[in-house]
Amino acid sequence: MITETKRLYLREITQADYAVIAKILQDDDAMFAYNGAFSDEEVAQWFDNLMTQYQTRGFSLWAVVLKETDQVVGQCGLTLQQVQGETVTEIGYLFNRDYWHQGYAIEAAQACKTYAFDILGIERVFSIIRDNNLASMNVAIRNGMTVRTKFIKTYKGIEMPHFTFAVDKS
Ligand SMILES: CC(C)(COP(=O)(O)OP(=O)(O)OC[C@H]1O[C@@H](n2cnc3c(N)ncnc32)[C@H](O)[C@@H]1OP(=O)(O)O)[C@@H](O)C(=O)NCCC(=O)NCCS
Repeated sequence: MITETKRLYLREITQADYAVIAKILQDDDAMFAYNGAFSDEEVAQWFDNLMTQYQTRGFSLWAVVLKETDQVVGQCGLTLQQVQGETVTEIGYLFNRDYWHQGYAIEAAQACKTYAFDILGIERVFSIIRDNNLASMNVAIRNGMTVRTKFIKTYKGIEMPHFTFAVDKS
């Protein structure tokens, strides 16, 4: 286990989670900020990348599991991202639509913030959010973040305005 909250625990994603993670990545509604559902090949790449990040850095997105049922409800964790030439640590989150609006994302994101500050010794964490993703912005705000910059990210050949949100260890 990586960390826990009142209702959740976070652990590394394994091949056994492939179907539940694919369900999130292949849901058009959940993936609107990524320009739509992933193909089977993109899901496989996502998994390969997770496994590589666990091995090389010791962190990445983790499985978010409900303590009560042992059900995987989403992914949340820490990744390194490039923003305007700078490498930053991002708290990322993608949840199964069946489990939205219950506060799980904010609970997991807060635990990742604490993990980044207290275990990894990181001084500032970010969430990088497409300008149309209001639910994600609310998670960032509830996680104590404020908006810092706006920039254009080119993803799948499309220019997408993004905001960076961040919070400092204080
Ligand atoms: C971003 C995402 C994780 C946010 O999910 P979410 O369900 O809105 O966020 P939470 O789980 O924190 O739930 C917050 C909501 O639960 C409500 N809530 C209910 N019980 C709660 C509790 N015990 N504690 C906190 N909030 C609670 C809050 O009031 C809030 O309501 P709202 O949706 O009306 O604002 C989700 O929309 C998602 O997976 N999107 C697709 C992937 C994505 O875009 N990821 C971000 C990329 S930058």
